[in-house]
Amino acid sequence: MRLTYHGHSCFVVETADARLIIDPFLTGNPAATITADAVACDYILVSHGHEDHTGDALALAQRCGATIIANFEIAEYYAAKGAKTHGMNPGGAFAFPFGRVKLTLAHHSSSLEAGLNPLYMGVPCGILVQADGKTLYHAGDTALFMDMQLIGRAGIDVALVPIGDNFTMGPEDAVTALDFLRPKFAVPMHYNTWPMIAQDAAAFAARALHSGHTVNVLTSGQSLLV
Ligand code: NI
Ligand code: MN
Repeated sequence: MRLTYHGHSCFVVETADARLIIDPFLTGNPAATITADAVACDYILVSHGHEDHTGDALALAQRCGATIIANFEIAEYYAAKGAKTHGMNPGGAFAFPFGRVKLTLAHHSSSLEAGLNPLYMGVPCGILVQADGKTLYHAGDTALFMDMQLIGRAGIDVALVPIGDNFTMGPEDAVTALDFLRPKFAVPMHYNTWPMIAQDAAAFAARALHSGHTVNVLTSGQSLLV
């Protein structure tokens, strides 16, 4: 599979059979180097309800005819707006034509338009994708948690982990997360989008290497083969 980073927590994953976009946030994403109009996708995977993860989901679903895969409440929300959706929940896996998707635990919140009347958008999730004989784990927005040891039993090739701090794990906890997940390599995400989550990704990579972990820092727009 081919993995392309688009800044924040947005990745495009091209498998042999389908094009996936995870946490589509291009419109309003200061780190994005492409616009949502430039994306072609068959499936849209969403980790939780916050706008910096769902932003372009509906527009992409409508323009590309893509299916939104997310927790049950997010799926129902977009289905009510006319999108094709597939609702799941943590611990559940499903075999899609391109491969297997399993939602995992994540410790965070999940809502839309969180003013006086935030919309409940189900529980936050991580996402395991198994396709082309490879396993990708997108941790979503999350704190460090011990059950990452269980998620690591899937035999992860690439782990996409937040390092921004404030809203999610910071770099120190993210290194411990790699101790639990044991991926072949990791890619940091959810950092430097805004000053509040500014981080030194190279310093994170060096710290992770000291603990025996390989980290590939991707710049926005950069791809690699998994
Ligand atoms: Ni969030
Ligand atoms: Mn976020």
